[in-house]
Amino acid sequence: MQEYRESIAKCGNLADLDKIRVALLGKKGAITSEFAKLKDMDEATKKEFAANLNKLRDEFEALLAAKKTELESGEIKAKMKAEAIDITLFNEPSGAGALHPVMATMDKIIEYFMMQNFSLETGPLIEDDFHNFEALNLPKYHPARDMQDTFYFKDFRLLRTHTSPVQVRTMMSKKPPIRMIAPGTVFRRDMDLTHTPMFHQVEGLVVEEGGAVSFANLKSMLENFLKYMFGDVKVRFRPSFFPFTEPSAEVDISCIFCHGDGCRVCKQTGWLEVLGCGVVDPNVFKAVGYKNVSGYAFGLGVERFAMLLHQIPDLRSLFEGDLRLLEQFK
Ligand code: PHE
Repeated sequence: MQEYRESIAKCGNLADLDKIRVALLGKKGAITSEFAKLKDMDEATKKEFAANLNKLRDEFEALLAAKKTELESGEIKAKMKAEAIDITLFNEPSGAGALHPVMATMDKIIEYFMMQNFSLETGPLIEDDFHNFEALNLPKYHPARDMQDTFYFKDFRLLRTHTSPVQVRTMMSKKPPIRMIAPGTVFRRDMDLTHTPMFHQVEGLVVEEGGAVSFANLKSMLENFLKYMFGDVKVRFRPSFFPFTEPSAEVDISCIFCHGDGCRVCKQTGWLEVLGCGVVDPNVFKAVGYKNVSGYAFGLGVERFAMLLHQIPDLRSLFEGDLRLLEQFK
């Protein structure tokens, strides 16, 4: 038994210790098999033998348990040492982020209209034909639908091609007067230097009972807005066409890069087109069940505003997520 005491004392790891335990106290272990001898002994010898054997077993159980605790704590210490982290190492700071120029521009636009008491409305990105087209005076098979290359789902729902369906939804759920903007994501099947399949618009709509709202109101409101966004620019309205407004106009500002002299950005015209607008077509009011009202609406592309405001030459760089671009907007 002395050799077992020695090997427990010398044992250096838990696996070997367990082997010793099995050799002593396992089913066929040295101590266990001694117990088998009891049944052939007479009463007197048996008692003494059993007492000694129990003592021996208790001794080894205690020795094994003590060694086990010792080895385990050693292993934990070794593990902690191996996994230690040097908290004095220099850590490169990861740097703070910045608002993406599109979102910053969106915020500035929203801020302006909040100051002018417009409400903020939203609508779903997946729209149906009625809200995106039909109610906006774009009947099925109308050629003007080609202006907006649409992503369709199999069930003829679609990704909204503009924020104008939010006009429709708002008018159908609220009574006039209405004074709202609808900022959000829109989608078109278009991809080149100046178009991306996803971009952002801000829609505006003002509706009053009776004939209170005119093109003149629209003009002065947009002039003030564009001066807020771009500073001291000239604003001009060009006749245009949208199915949901009549009359309609496209709005230009004097080129903020050459101040009207002509440059590459304004294609030598001295003017930059920035938004579309008009007086709401009576057919739109009819579709949403409004009677005896007047109103105006406008829609703008946020990326276009952001590019002009920050002199970003390539639309695609707004969607690449290149930190070198984003870091310039801290
Ligand atoms: N919905 C139009 C577009 O996406 C923009 C617009 C909105 C024009 C409201 C006039 C009035 O092109």
